[in-house]
Amino acid sequence: MKRIGILTSGGDCQGLNSTIRAVAKSLYYHYGNDGVEIIGIIDGYRGLIYGEYKTMKPEDFSGILTMGGTILGTSRQPFKLMRVVDENSVDKVASMKKNYKKLNLDCLVVLGGNGTQKTANLLSEEGLNVVSLPKTIDNDLWGTDKTFGFQSAVDIATNVIDCIHTTATSHGRVFIVEVMGHKVGWLTLYAGIAGGADIILIPEIPYDIDSVIKTIKARTASGKNFSILAVAEGAISKELAAMPKKKKKAAIAEMKYPSISYKIAEEIEAATGQETRVTVPGHFQRGGSPDAYDRVLSTRFGVAAADLIINKKYGNMVALVNNEVVAVPLKDIAGKLKAVPKDCEVVQAARKMGISFGD
Ligand code: F6P
Repeated sequence: MKRIGILTSGGDCQGLNSTIRAVAKSLYYHYGNDGVEIIGIIDGYRGLIYGEYKTMKPEDFSGILTMGGTILGTSRQPFKLMRVVDENSVDKVASMKKNYKKLNLDCLVVLGGNGTQKTANLLSEEGLNVVSLPKTIDNDLWGTDKTFGFQSAVDIATNVIDCIHTTATSHGRVFIVEVMGHKVGWLTLYAGIAGGADIILIPEIPYDIDSVIKTIKARTASGKNFSILAVAEGAISKELAAMPKKKKKAAIAEMKYPSISYKIAEEIEAATGQETRVTVPGHFQRGGSPDAYDRVLSTRFGVAAADLIINKKYGNMVALVNNEVVAVPLKDIAGKLKAVPKDCEVVQAARKMGISFGD
Protein backbone atom coordinates (compact mmCIF):
# COMPACT_ATOMS: atom_id res chain seq x y z
CA MET A 1 0.00 0.00 0.00
CA LYS A 2 1.41 3.39 -1.05
CA ARG A 3 0.95 6.30 1.33
CA ILE A 4 0.95 9.77 -0.20
CA GLY A 5 0.68 13.02 1.75
CA ILE A 6 -0.70 16.09 0.02
CA LEU A 7 -0.82 19.73 1.09
CA THR A 8 -1.67 23.16 -0.31
CA SER A 9 0.41 26.07 0.95
CA GLY A 10 0.51 29.87 0.62
CA GLY A 11 -2.22 32.09 -0.83
CA ASP A 12 -5.03 30.09 -2.38
CA CYS A 13 -6.11 30.35 -6.00
CA GLN A 14 -8.46 28.78 -8.49
CA GLY A 15 -7.49 25.26 -9.54
CA LEU A 16 -6.18 23.91 -6.23
CA ASN A 17 -9.03 21.43 -5.86
CA SER A 18 -8.98 20.41 -9.52
CA THR A 19 -5.25 19.70 -9.15
CA ILE A 20 -5.72 17.71 -5.92
CA ARG A 21 -8.47 15.75 -7.69
CA ALA A 22 -6.25 14.96 -10.68
CA VAL A 23 -3.37 13.74 -8.48
CA ALA A 24 -5.72 11.55 -6.43
CA LYS A 25 -7.83 10.13 -9.28
CA SER A 26 -4.72 9.35 -11.28
CA LEU A 27 -3.11 7.55 -8.30
CA TYR A 28 -6.30 5.55 -7.61
CA TYR A 29 -6.50 4.70 -11.33
CA HIS A 30 -2.94 3.35 -11.27
CA TYR A 31 -2.78 1.61 -7.89
CA GLY A 32 -6.49 0.82 -7.39
CA ASN A 33 -8.54 2.22 -4.50
CA ASP A 34 -6.98 -0.28 -2.09
CA GLY A 35 -3.46 0.23 -3.37
CA VAL A 36 -2.94 3.80 -2.23
CA GLU A 37 -3.87 5.83 0.84
CA ILE A 38 -3.90 9.60 0.54
CA ILE A 39 -3.27 11.67 3.63
CA GLY A 40 -4.57 15.25 3.44
CA ILE A 41 -2.30 17.54 5.47
CA ILE A 42 -4.37 20.37 6.94
CA ASP A 43 -3.50 24.06 6.34
CA GLY A 44 -0.28 23.57 4.43
CA TYR A 45 3.11 23.11 6.10
CA ARG A 46 1.51 24.06 9.41
CA GLY A 47 -0.32 20.72 9.40
CA LEU A 48 2.91 18.87 8.68
CA ILE A 49 4.72 20.73 11.45
CA TYR A 50 2.04 20.18 14.09
CA GLY A 51 0.73 16.80 12.92
CA GLU A 52 -2.72 17.84 11.67
CA TYR A 53 -4.00 15.64 8.90
CA LYS A 54 -6.91 13.49 7.74
CA THR A 55 -7.00 10.20 5.91
CA MET A 56 -8.86 10.80 2.68
CA LYS A 57 -11.20 8.49 0.83
CA PRO A 58 -11.73 8.30 -2.95
CA GLU A 59 -15.13 10.01 -2.60
CA ASP A 60 -13.43 13.06 -1.03
CA PHE A 61 -12.02 13.85 -4.45
CA SER A 62 -15.37 13.76 -6.28
CA GLY A 63 -17.36 16.90 -7.03
CA ILE A 64 -14.43 19.26 -6.46
CA LEU A 65 -13.37 20.01 -10.04
CA THR A 66 -15.13 23.36 -10.14
CA MET A 67 -14.80 24.24 -6.45
CA GLY A 68 -12.73 27.31 -5.54
CA GLY A 69 -10.33 27.46 -2.58
CA THR A 70 -8.77 24.29 -1.21
CA ILE A 71 -10.46 21.37 0.55
CA LEU A 72 -7.26 20.95 2.61
CA GLY A 73 -7.01 24.52 3.86
CA THR A 74 -3.86 26.58 3.54
CA SER A 75 -1.61 28.92 5.48
CA ARG A 76 1.45 31.06 4.93
CA GLN A 77 4.53 29.63 6.62
CA PRO A 78 7.37 31.95 5.54
CA PHE A 79 10.42 30.11 4.25
CA LYS A 80 12.76 32.46 6.10
CA LEU A 81 11.24 31.30 9.41
CA MET A 82 11.43 27.57 8.63
CA ARG A 83 14.79 27.26 10.40
CA VAL A 84 13.61 29.42 13.31
CA VAL A 85 12.08 27.53 16.26
CA ASP A 86 8.52 28.61 17.12
CA GLU A 87 7.29 30.14 20.40
CA ASN A 88 7.04 26.65 21.91
CA SER A 89 10.60 25.76 20.82
CA VAL A 90 9.33 23.48 18.04
CA ASP A 91 12.00 22.89 15.39
CA LYS A 92 9.78 23.10 12.29
CA VAL A 93 11.99 21.21 9.85
CA ALA A 94 12.72 18.41 12.34
CA SER A 95 9.03 18.23 13.15
CA MET A 96 8.00 17.96 9.47
CA LYS A 97 10.54 15.15 8.98
CA LYS A 98 9.27 13.40 12.10
CA ASN A 99 5.62 13.60 10.99
CA TYR A 100 6.49 12.44 7.47
CA LYS A 101 8.13 9.35 9.00
CA LYS A 102 5.35 8.86 11.55
CA LEU A 103 2.75 8.91 8.76
CA ASN A 104 4.94 6.41 6.90
CA LEU A 105 4.67 8.46 3.69
CA ASP A 106 6.19 7.34 0.40
CA CYS A 107 5.94 10.85 -0.99
CA LEU A 108 4.76 14.34 -0.09
CA VAL A 109 2.88 16.26 -2.79
CA VAL A 110 3.05 20.02 -2.42
CA LEU A 111 0.93 22.60 -4.26
CA GLY A 112 2.24 26.11 -3.93
CA GLY A 113 3.97 29.25 -5.10
CA ASN A 114 7.46 30.63 -4.63
CA GLY A 115 7.90 30.31 -0.86
CA THR A 116 6.25 26.88 -0.91
CA GLN A 117 8.65 25.61 -3.57
CA LYS A 118 11.63 26.80 -1.50
CA THR A 119 10.42 24.77 1.48
CA ALA A 120 9.64 21.82 -0.81
CA ASN A 121 13.25 21.95 -2.00
CA LEU A 122 14.50 22.18 1.58
CA LEU A 123 12.51 19.07 2.53
CA SER A 124 13.78 17.29 -0.56
CA GLU A 125 17.37 18.18 0.43
CA GLU A 126 16.57 16.86 3.91
CA GLY A 127 15.86 13.47 2.33
CA LEU A 128 12.04 13.46 1.97
CA ASN A 129 10.46 12.31 -1.29
CA VAL A 130 8.77 15.43 -2.63
CA VAL A 131 6.83 16.20 -5.82
CA SER A 132 5.46 19.71 -6.28
CA LEU A 133 3.01 21.61 -8.49
CA PRO A 134 3.09 25.28 -9.53
CA LYS A 135 0.23 27.30 -8.08
CA THR A 136 -0.30 31.06 -8.08
CA ILE A 137 -2.32 33.79 -9.72
CA ASP A 138 0.95 35.76 -9.98
CA ASN A 139 2.52 33.42 -12.61
CA ASP A 140 5.91 34.29 -11.12
CA LEU A 141 7.32 30.80 -10.66
CA TRP A 142 10.60 30.13 -12.40
CA GLY A 143 10.76 27.03 -14.61
CA THR A 144 7.15 27.02 -15.85
CA ASP A 145 5.56 29.14 -18.57
CA LYS A 146 2.26 29.10 -16.69
CA THR A 147 1.06 28.39 -13.18
CA PHE A 148 -2.48 27.17 -12.52
CA GLY A 149 -4.73 29.91 -11.17
CA PHE A 150 -3.16 32.59 -13.36
CA GLN A 151 -5.58 32.38 -16.28
CA SER A 152 -8.67 32.35 -14.03
CA ALA A 153 -7.39 35.46 -12.26
CA VAL A 154 -6.71 37.11 -15.64
CA ASP A 155 -10.34 36.41 -16.56
CA ILE A 156 -11.62 38.03 -13.37
CA ALA A 157 -9.37 41.09 -13.59
CA THR A 158 -10.32 41.46 -17.27
CA ASN A 159 -13.99 41.35 -16.36
CA VAL A 160 -13.40 44.12 -13.80
CA ILE A 161 -11.73 46.29 -16.45
CA ASP A 162 -14.61 45.55 -18.87
CA CYS A 163 -17.17 46.69 -16.30
CA ILE A 164 -15.12 49.76 -15.40
CA HIS A 165 -14.93 50.66 -19.10
CA THR A 166 -18.67 51.22 -19.37
CA THR A 167 -18.93 53.41 -16.28
CA ALA A 168 -15.74 55.30 -17.19
CA THR A 169 -17.15 56.21 -20.59
CA SER A 170 -20.52 57.25 -19.13
CA HIS A 171 -18.91 59.63 -16.66
CA GLY A 172 -15.84 60.70 -18.61
CA ARG A 173 -13.55 59.69 -15.79
CA VAL A 174 -10.07 58.30 -15.42
CA PHE A 175 -10.16 54.90 -13.74
CA ILE A 176 -7.35 52.91 -12.19
CA VAL A 177 -7.93 49.17 -11.74
CA GLU A 178 -5.35 47.86 -9.29
CA VAL A 179 -4.41 44.29 -10.09
CA MET A 180 -2.72 41.73 -7.79
CA GLY A 181 0.53 40.03 -8.72
CA HIS A 182 2.85 40.72 -5.78
CA LYS A 183 6.25 41.79 -7.17
CA VAL A 184 5.55 41.02 -10.83
CA GLY A 185 3.26 42.32 -13.55
CA TRP A 186 2.05 39.21 -15.43
CA LEU A 187 -1.54 39.48 -14.24
CA THR A 188 -1.73 43.22 -14.93
CA LEU A 189 -0.11 42.86 -18.34
CA TYR A 190 -2.50 40.14 -19.51
CA ALA A 191 -5.66 41.61 -17.96
CA GLY A 192 -4.64 45.07 -19.18
CA ILE A 193 -4.33 43.90 -22.76
CA ALA A 194 -7.46 41.72 -22.58
CA GLY A 195 -9.47 44.58 -21.07
CA GLY A 196 -8.18 47.19 -23.52
CA ALA A 197 -6.47 49.37 -20.91
CA ASP A 198 -4.88 52.56 -22.22
CA ILE A 199 -2.02 52.52 -19.75
CA ILE A 200 -0.43 49.48 -18.06
CA LEU A 201 1.93 50.00 -15.13
CA ILE A 202 3.96 47.00 -13.94
CA PRO A 203 6.87 46.71 -11.47
CA GLU A 204 9.27 45.54 -14.19
CA ILE A 205 8.84 48.84 -16.11
CA PRO A 206 9.04 51.73 -13.60
CA TYR A 207 6.75 54.60 -14.61
CA ASP A 208 7.26 58.33 -14.93
CA ILE A 209 4.12 60.10 -13.71
CA ASP A 210 4.65 62.93 -16.23
CA SER A 211 4.55 60.39 -19.04
CA VAL A 212 1.32 58.87 -17.63
CA ILE A 213 -0.26 62.34 -17.44
CA LYS A 214 0.92 63.19 -20.96
CA THR A 215 -0.82 60.08 -22.32
CA ILE A 216 -4.08 60.96 -20.56
CA LYS A 217 -3.95 64.58 -21.79
CA ALA A 218 -3.27 63.37 -25.34
CA ARG A 219 -6.31 61.07 -25.15
CA THR A 220 -8.47 63.97 -23.93
CA ALA A 221 -7.14 66.21 -26.71
CA SER A 222 -8.06 63.54 -29.27
CA GLY A 223 -11.66 63.52 -28.04
CA LYS A 224 -11.56 60.50 -25.67
CA ASN A 225 -13.33 61.52 -22.49
CA PHE A 226 -12.04 58.64 -20.36
CA SER A 227 -8.87 56.66 -19.69
CA ILE A 228 -8.34 53.25 -18.12
CA LEU A 229 -5.17 52.33 -16.27
CA ALA A 230 -4.34 48.75 -15.24
CA VAL A 231 -1.89 49.22 -12.38
CA ALA A 232 -0.05 46.36 -10.69
CA GLU A 233 -0.12 46.44 -6.90
CA GLY A 234 3.70 46.40 -7.09
CA ALA A 235 4.00 49.20 -9.68
CA ILE A 236 6.80 51.59 -8.90
CA SER A 237 7.85 55.04 -10.11
CA LYS A 238 11.22 55.59 -11.79
CA GLU A 239 12.17 57.84 -8.91
CA LEU A 240 11.55 55.14 -6.29
CA ALA A 241 13.06 52.37 -8.40
CA ALA A 242 16.32 54.33 -8.64
CA MET A 243 16.70 54.49 -4.85
CA PRO A 244 18.97 52.13 -2.91
CA LYS A 245 17.01 49.15 -1.51
CA LYS A 246 16.81 50.36 2.11
CA LYS A 247 15.84 53.92 1.21
CA LYS A 248 13.22 52.64 -1.22
CA LYS A 249 11.68 50.34 1.42
CA ALA A 250 11.50 53.24 3.88
CA ALA A 251 9.94 55.57 1.26
CA ILE A 252 7.27 52.96 0.42
CA ALA A 253 6.54 52.38 4.12
CA GLU A 254 6.10 56.13 4.62
CA MET A 255 3.55 56.48 1.84
CA LYS A 256 0.30 57.93 3.19
CA TYR A 257 -1.83 56.08 0.63
CA PRO A 258 -3.51 52.67 1.06
CA SER A 259 -1.70 51.56 -2.11
CA ILE A 260 0.24 53.00 -5.05
CA SER A 261 -2.90 53.44 -7.19
CA TYR A 262 -4.29 56.10 -4.84
CA LYS A 263 -1.08 58.12 -5.13
CA ILE A 264 -1.16 57.87 -8.93
CA ALA A 265 -4.85 58.85 -8.95
CA GLU A 266 -4.17 61.96 -6.85
CA GLU A 267 -1.32 63.00 -9.13
CA ILE A 268 -3.42 62.48 -12.27
CA GLU A 269 -6.38 64.42 -10.90
CA ALA A 270 -4.16 67.31 -9.80
CA ALA A 271 -2.46 67.55 -13.19
CA THR A 272 -5.45 66.98 -15.50
CA GLY A 273 -8.41 68.18 -13.45
CA GLN A 274 -10.19 65.01 -14.55
CA GLU A 275 -12.07 63.01 -11.93
CA THR A 276 -9.96 59.93 -11.18
CA ARG A 277 -11.21 56.84 -9.35
CA VAL A 278 -9.55 53.68 -8.07
CA THR A 279 -11.03 50.17 -8.09
CA VAL A 280 -9.24 47.41 -6.17
CA PRO A 281 -10.72 43.95 -6.85
CA GLY A 282 -8.21 42.42 -4.40
CA HIS A 283 -8.83 38.83 -3.30
CA PHE A 284 -11.81 38.63 -5.64
CA GLN A 285 -9.15 37.75 -8.21
CA ARG A 286 -8.27 34.56 -6.33
CA GLY A 287 -11.81 33.39 -5.69
CA GLY A 288 -14.37 31.16 -7.34
CA SER A 289 -14.14 28.39 -9.90
CA PRO A 290 -11.14 27.75 -12.10
CA ASP A 291 -11.84 28.60 -15.73
CA ALA A 292 -11.75 25.92 -18.43
CA TYR A 293 -8.07 26.60 -19.20
CA ASP A 294 -7.06 26.13 -15.56
CA ARG A 295 -9.19 22.99 -15.23
CA VAL A 296 -7.31 21.44 -18.13
CA LEU A 297 -3.89 22.70 -17.01
CA SER A 298 -4.37 21.58 -13.40
CA THR A 299 -5.58 18.17 -14.59
CA ARG A 300 -2.50 17.79 -16.80
CA PHE A 301 -0.25 18.91 -13.93
CA GLY A 302 -1.96 16.57 -11.43
CA VAL A 303 -1.65 13.55 -13.70
CA ALA A 304 2.02 14.39 -14.40
CA ALA A 305 2.68 14.64 -10.64
CA ALA A 306 1.11 11.21 -10.13
CA ASP A 307 3.36 9.86 -12.89
CA LEU A 308 6.41 11.26 -11.08
CA ILE A 309 5.28 9.49 -7.89
CA ILE A 310 4.64 6.21 -9.72
CA ASN A 311 8.07 6.40 -11.36
CA LYS A 312 9.76 7.54 -8.11
CA LYS A 313 11.08 10.71 -9.77
CA TYR A 314 11.16 12.76 -6.61
CA GLY A 315 12.62 16.23 -6.06
CA ASN A 316 10.77 17.67 -9.07
CA MET A 317 8.10 20.24 -9.82
CA VAL A 318 5.78 19.68 -12.77
CA ALA A 319 5.89 22.58 -15.23
CA LEU A 320 4.56 23.79 -18.55
CA VAL A 321 7.33 24.45 -21.06
CA ASN A 322 6.43 25.25 -24.67
CA ASN A 323 2.98 23.77 -24.01
CA GLU A 324 4.43 20.42 -22.87
CA VAL A 325 4.09 19.26 -19.27
CA VAL A 326 7.57 18.39 -18.01
CA ALA A 327 9.41 17.85 -14.71
CA VAL A 328 11.93 20.44 -13.52
CA PRO A 329 14.29 19.78 -10.58
CA LEU A 330 13.23 21.69 -7.47
CA LYS A 331 16.83 22.70 -6.82
CA ASP A 332 16.91 24.53 -10.19
CA ILE A 333 13.79 26.61 -9.63
CA ALA A 334 13.53 27.20 -5.89
CA GLY A 335 14.04 30.83 -4.89
CA LYS A 336 13.99 32.21 -8.44
CA LEU A 337 11.41 34.78 -9.48
CA LYS A 338 10.01 34.86 -13.03
CA ALA A 339 9.41 38.53 -13.77
CA VAL A 340 8.03 39.96 -17.02
CA PRO A 341 10.97 40.53 -19.41
CA LYS A 342 10.79 44.26 -20.24
CA ASP A 343 10.98 43.73 -23.99
CA CYS A 344 9.10 40.43 -24.30
CA GLU A 345 6.81 39.88 -27.26
CA VAL A 346 3.64 40.53 -25.22
CA VAL A 347 4.94 43.91 -23.99
CA GLN A 348 6.01 44.81 -27.50
CA ALA A 349 2.61 43.84 -28.90
CA ALA A 350 0.93 46.08 -26.32
CA ARG A 351 3.23 48.98 -27.23
CA LYS A 352 2.47 48.50 -30.92
CA MET A 353 -1.22 48.86 -30.04
CA GLY A 354 -0.45 52.27 -28.57
CA ILE A 355 -0.71 51.11 -24.96
CA SER A 356 1.53 53.19 -22.71
CA PHE A 357 3.70 51.67 -19.98
CA GLY A 358 4.28 55.11 -18.53
CA ASP A 359 8.03 54.97 -19.25
O1 F6P B 1 0.55 35.45 -4.27
C1 F6P B 1 -0.80 35.61 -4.51
C2 F6P B 1 -1.27 36.93 -3.95
O2 F6P B 1 -2.66 37.05 -4.18
C3 F6P B 1 -0.55 38.16 -4.48
O3 F6P B 1 -0.98 38.55 -5.75
C4 F6P B 1 -0.83 39.16 -3.39
O4 F6P B 1 0.17 40.15 -3.34
C5 F6P B 1 -0.81 38.31 -2.16
O5 F6P B 1 -1.07 36.98 -2.56
C6 F6P B 1 -1.82 38.69 -1.11
O6 F6P B 1 -1.57 37.92 0.01
P1 F6P B 1 -2.58 37.71 1.22
O7 F6P B 1 -3.68 36.84 0.74
O8 F6P B 1 -1.77 37.05 2.26
O9 F6P B 1 -3.08 39.06 1.58
